[in-house]
Amino acid sequence: MTDSIPVIAIDGPAASGKGTIAARVAEALGFYYLDSGALYRIATLNALQKGICLDDAEALTVATQKIAPIFKEGRIFLEGQDVTTAIRAEEVSAATSRVAVVPGVRAALFELQKDAAQLPGLVADGRDMGTVVFPDAPLKVFLTATARVRAERRYRQLLERGEEADLAALTADLEERDRRDSKRATAPLKPAEDARDLDTSEMGIEEVVKKVLSWWDEAR
Ligand code: DC
Repeated sequence: MTDSIPVIAIDGPAASGKGTIAARVAEALGFYYLDSGALYRIATLNALQKGICLDDAEALTVATQKIAPIFKEGRIFLEGQDVTTAIRAEEVSAATSRVAVVPGVRAALFELQKDAAQLPGLVADGRDMGTVVFPDAPLKVFLTATARVRAERRYRQLLERGEEADLAALTADLEERDRRDSKRATAPLKPAEDARDLDTSEMGIEEVVKKVLSWWDEAR
C-alpha cells in the first residue's frame, strides 16, 4: 500500500550528488530518506564476510534474502555489527557494482526498498528508483554531471578527509562504474521516461535542492 505515500525518486550515476541532495530534500520536507545504494553495499559486505564467490548468483541471492539491516540514528547495523563505515570502503564499492547485476539480489532488495515508503513521505535515491522500485512516484529526478566533475567532487571529499586521491584514477573508476551500471540487463541506470533531467555540473548543492523542491511544489 505504498501508492498513496508521496515518493520522490532521485536517480543518477555514482558521485552525482544524489545522496546529499536526496537527504537535504527529505530533511526540508520532513520525509524519510532511502539510500538504496547502501542496501546493495550491505548485501555485498555480507557476501564478502561470508566468503561467498561474487560469481555465484544463487549463493548471493540466498544470502541477500536473509539480510535484515537496521538503520538507527544515522548508523547501519547488520547482525549486530555497525557497518556504517565498512560499506563505504573502496573494496566494497568495486564489488557492489558486480553484485548489483544479479537479478536475484535485486529482487531480494526490492521489498526492503518498498517498505521504506512510509508517511509522511519518502525521498529515495539510487539507480532504478524511478524506473523499477517506485514507478508511480509523482516526481522523478535524474541527476547527471560529467565524469570529470564527479571525480573532482570525490577528489575534494577524499582530500578533506585527509585521504590520498588520484584524480585520473577516480575519473577512470567512475567511467567504469557508469558503464557497468548502464549496461546491465536488469534495472540498468537510465532515466525514467517521465523523469526530469538535471545536469548539476555547474550547480551548487543548495541550487539543486531548491530546484528539486520547486519541482515537488509543481508535482503534488
Ligand atoms: O549509490 P552507491 O554508490 O552507494 O551505489 C553502490 C552500487 O550499488 C553501485 O554500483 C550501483 C548499485 N546500485 C544499484 O544498482 N541500484 C540502486 N538502486 C542503487 C545502487
